[in-house]
Amino acid sequence: MQEVLSVRGVSKAYPGVTALEDVSLSLRPGEIRAICGENGAGKSTFVKILMGIVQPDSGSIDINGQTQVVRGPQQAQSMGLGLVAQELSLAPHLSILDNIWLGSAEVPFLHRRASFRVRAKQALETLGLTDWDLDRPVSSLTVGQRQLIEIARLLARDARVLILDEPTATLSDADIERILGILKGLRTQGRSIIYITHRLGEVFELCDSITVLRNGQHVATQPVSETTREGLVEMMLGRSFEDMYPKAPAHADQSVRVVVEGLDVPGTLNKFSMTAPRGRIVCIAGQIGSGANMVTRALAGLVPSATGSVTVDGRPMRLGSVPHAVARNVLFVSDDRAAEGLFPQMTVLDNLIATRLDASARMGVLSWPALRRMAASLAERVGVDRHRLKSQSIALSGGNQQKLLFGRALASADAGVLLMNEPTRGIDVGARAEIYRIMRELCDLGSTLIMTSSDLEEVVGIADIVITLYRGNVVARYEDEAIAMSSILADITHPTQAVA
Ligand SMILES: Nc1ncnc2c1ncn2[C@@H]1O[C@H](COP(=O)(O)OP(=O)(O)OP(=O)(O)O)[C@@H](O)[C@H]1O
Ligand SMILES: [Mg+2]
Repeated sequence: MQEVLSVRGVSKAYPGVTALEDVSLSLRPGEIRAICGENGAGKSTFVKILMGIVQPDSGSIDINGQTQVVRGPQQAQSMGLGLVAQELSLAPHLSILDNIWLGSAEVPFLHRRASFRVRAKQALETLGLTDWDLDRPVSSLTVGQRQLIEIARLLARDARVLILDEPTATLSDADIERILGILKGLRTQGRSIIYITHRLGEVFELCDSITVLRNGQHVATQPVSETTREGLVEMMLGRSFEDMYPKAPAHADQSVRVVVEGLDVPGTLNKFSMTAPRGRIVCIAGQIGSGANMVTRALAGLVPSATGSVTVDGRPMRLGSVPHAVARNVLFVSDDRAAEGLFPQMTVLDNLIATRLDASARMGVLSWPALRRMAASLAERVGVDRHRLKSQSIALSGGNQQKLLFGRALASADAGVLLMNEPTRGIDVGARAEIYRIMRELCDLGSTLIMTSSDLEEVVGIADIVITLYRGNVVARYEDEAIAMSSILADITHPTQAVA
């Protein structure tokens, strides 16, 4: 069967970094290919080259047997390629319809011909979204729903090769299942898919074949049926890999540090109460919309409408004030690095130390050597190349940006309370293990970690205490050996117990 896509020997260098070196890949109709690799391996660069967003330094691309020079995304589209980019690209204030056609080669800006409406509607129907109002603004949709619109956009344009760069990184399990189901359906129509993910479970559930990249180089391409999970991880890391989740001995002092009583956020969270001891990792598990991430956001002082009582180390903490939370040594690692995390134009170094300027000032004078040393050691701890301290943070790969946020929180964590939403979103397996190790280290130093995660494997692996939430209500609390995937999953999807 003729290949829909055949890439030969593409290379791409940025100043100081070889993003890709002599990478080849070909794809058959109806094939789902995973591209796996650590953060910064070159996955996004590769697909951006396919779409003409980035121009390669060398190499060639054949589409349907013809060699093409892809000059830009509209040209790639007209040849049947479509991309769901790593960072969502919808315009929230525009309608679903306008978003589906935004940037399309076929449609002049926001043109409203009836046939475009029909095709948009058909695309939504292919995804099982029969009752959706095309005129609804995208801002009214959940993240999962927006991701479906991104896919609908490719279908409306009749993409034959769909390229998805970490489409599930921001989604809950229910949404992921739905998207995987849809992609399997598209395969039976003969469409080809390139699928990038750090969630290896998805690779084995969905994909036919795997291409592994490491440091910009092609390591292997092989059928999923001939690949084991361990084998895949070893190919990605280039070394063997033992234990993902360090189970540290319980911290000697497990006195209660954080007491939350009757935390209320209108419409999202209903009289939430919990306690969190020193030296432990507490995970609040729930689907998107359950209110789980509202708990951490409220404790961080980010939710003005939150009410209830919170004490930290026996002292009351006022809600709705970030400075007050920080004064109580309660720090937040955001899961939205674009909106409230990084300063994209600033350097890696500046981002790492942004919250630590005080600690490096002696009598009001900043000590640059001290700051640089601190940044270098933080970079090392979270696994960001210390030679890149002077790069703009926007030039880092998505996962490395996440590590940067984590590094910044570490800079000020001491033995405080660290709040984290989705701490390993978009982070590769190797770095993930490293981050879990750092989380344990912080616990050993006396920190308390309160986190949310939609990745149940992670919840079961790392948490000492799990609190399950369903629609804003606590379902249950589990500790140590009582933590099991099946009960957590049951709680957060269809709780049988009466919720309080
Ligand atoms: N615009 C840019 N300027 C400079 N360097 C860049 C740029 N874009 C990417 N890079 C570098 O190229 C390398 C590959 O990055 P890429 O984004 O392709 O990685 P990735 O495999 O998608 O990683 P992740 O899993 O974190 O998304 C990285 O070292 C990255 O920092
Ligand atoms: Mg990427």
